[in-house]
Amino acid sequence: MEAPEHLPAAHLWPTTTTVEQGVLAIAGFNVLELVRTYGTPLYVLDGATIRTQAARYTAALRNAYAGASSIHYASKALLNVGLAQLLARLGLGLDVVSAGELQIAKHAGCDLSHVHLHGNGTPAGELQQALELGVGRIVVDNLDQLAALINLTKDRATPQPILLRIAPDVADTAAHTHIQTGAAAAKFGLPIADGSAAEAVRQALKAKGLHLMGLHAHIGSQLRDWAALREAVTRLITFAAEQRAERGWTLSELSPGGGLAVAYLPAETAPDIDVYATTLAQTVMQGCTRAGLPLPRLIIEPGRSLIARAGVSLYSVTGRKAVAGGPTYVHVDGGMGDNLRPALYAAGYTALVADQPLAKAAASVQISGRFCESGDVLIRDVALPPVEPGAVIALPVTGAYTLSMSSNYNGVPRPPLLLLDGAKIHVLQRRETIDDLLRRDLPLDV
Ligand SMILES: Cc1ncc(COP(=O)(O)O)c(C=O)c1O
Repeated sequence: MEAPEHLPAAHLWPTTTTVEQGVLAIAGFNVLELVRTYGTPLYVLDGATIRTQAARYTAALRNAYAGASSIHYASKALLNVGLAQLLARLGLGLDVVSAGELQIAKHAGCDLSHVHLHGNGTPAGELQQALELGVGRIVVDNLDQLAALINLTKDRATPQPILLRIAPDVADTAAHTHIQTGAAAAKFGLPIADGSAAEAVRQALKAKGLHLMGLHAHIGSQLRDWAALREAVTRLITFAAEQRAERGWTLSELSPGGGLAVAYLPAETAPDIDVYATTLAQTVMQGCTRAGLPLPRLIIEPGRSLIARAGVSLYSVTGRKAVAGGPTYVHVDGGMGDNLRPALYAAGYTALVADQPLAKAAASVQISGRFCESGDVLIRDVALPPVEPGAVIALPVTGAYTLSMSSNYNGVPRPPLLLLDGAKIHVLQRRETIDDLLRRDLPLDV
């Protein structure tokens, strides 16, 4: 991916980012003009960056893996109707975790047989909906969910294809604990060591309404540790080989989930997608050869690494506070209501001033959100040139796990989301209005 020249930390910005007449531009759109039209806070997605990432994943898997493969975008990173349509056009399936995400996919006209439903606590009603809508796969997380599904499908004419989510007891411990999901003690998945996974295979094979296709294990997000990934996949294959020996069941699909890391800060670099795909493919191919298993369909579920870098968030400066001998706060008109990651995971970001992207930074400041929480600080330390109220601050790498985790805290409406794609501006989500906020409220009956 070619980084725009002269832009500090260009590898963090969408691939189409340039500086036009001294102002940041994305896909040729001057961000100050976008702000004049759509206001702030404002989120923009660069279509070209999404397309590049999708093409890189597709090519990397095809080049590295001798068996069939497919990519299911992890919707939890960010989902709406327009984005679902774009991803479907790019040949990607979806991984969803609720009836809500499923309905967005349906509304977008996605082929639901390319949608996989996940979730450790999915209500039976939503499982029922997924069955009725014909989702391609249900990834079963625990024995109670399996029992519920067996009951819901006992009279089905055609069995529902499922995968079992395994907890392979492997984690990339470099990631924040909140995004580590592979340990046996984590809330997700069927451990192998205590026999739960084997019991699930036994029950699933007996169930007339279910068709056990394969195994799944997502060990966490912001993954950079190839050894953890290799170990998790190897444990799935070893378990599959045992189940074939014991029950005559042959795995036909295997999913290591998603999780590839991205760079958020100037000093960071994103792990290479080709190395990720080759590591996965080699581990599966060698593992299956050793175990005498046929090559399963390899299903990956990238979320963050597909969308994060395509996103930029734009805020207006609303005020400042310089503490003598202490920090300088630059207050902006957004924060944890649209980007919870700094408050929730102590996640780091960087920023630029939209009309001075190349200006020499003067001092380190904190970008503090407008929400009534001391923890609502988007950036604890970034060197910026001096700014006045009304200036526009741009944060890169905000395409994932920001708007999808947004809220109306403090009664603040959520920002709009634009897709800049091929010289066209698509409004994927309009700005939320106060009427939207009031829509669910019912006055006390006097
Ligand atoms: C089952 C599963 N698959 C895929 C993902 C996507 O992870 P990432 O966005 O890090 O690629 C997640 C994220 O939590 C997940 O839980």
